[in-house]
Amino acid sequence: MRVLILNGPNLNLLGKREPVVYGDTTYAELEQLCHRWGGELGLEVELYQSNHEGALLDRLHQTEADFVVLNPGALTHTSVALRDAVAGVGLPTIEVHLSNIYAREEWRRRSLLSEVCRGVISGLGVQGYRLALSAGKELFPGG
Ligand code: DQA
Repeated sequence: MRVLILNGPNLNLLGKREPVVYGDTTYAELEQLCHRWGGELGLEVELYQSNHEGALLDRLHQTEADFVVLNPGALTHTSVALRDAVAGVGLPTIEVHLSNIYAREEWRRRSLLSEVCRGVISGLGVQGYRLALSAGKELFPGG
């Protein structure tokens, strides 16, 4: 079973970026953890991060994964294009946020993506990715 883990703008800065909010795990460490957790579950893990909306859309359009774990970063709150890509591709998608977007600024509480995702994990730091991998494996065999 294959999973695409897609990370949006600024997630490459993990570890350096507002560590009080996003934790001190770096993006490289997150990649390693996801490969390890995926491996333990018998999943083939593809990871992709981009600061560019169109690049994220292209990667999503191309994927042959069974399910997607998506942290859209700030595009969560703004991107109709990413929302439509998730809906259009039709793969089961789990939205993940490191921080609890419901305990922050008012404008951050609104996600354009949640409506087209199968579930949302928010506020559990990098553990959110582990939970999403494990849930996706159970819930979406064969996509
Ligand atoms: C985030 C939350 C977003 O509001 C923010 O813009 C991010 C990261 C998170 O993982 O908590 O870039 O998606």
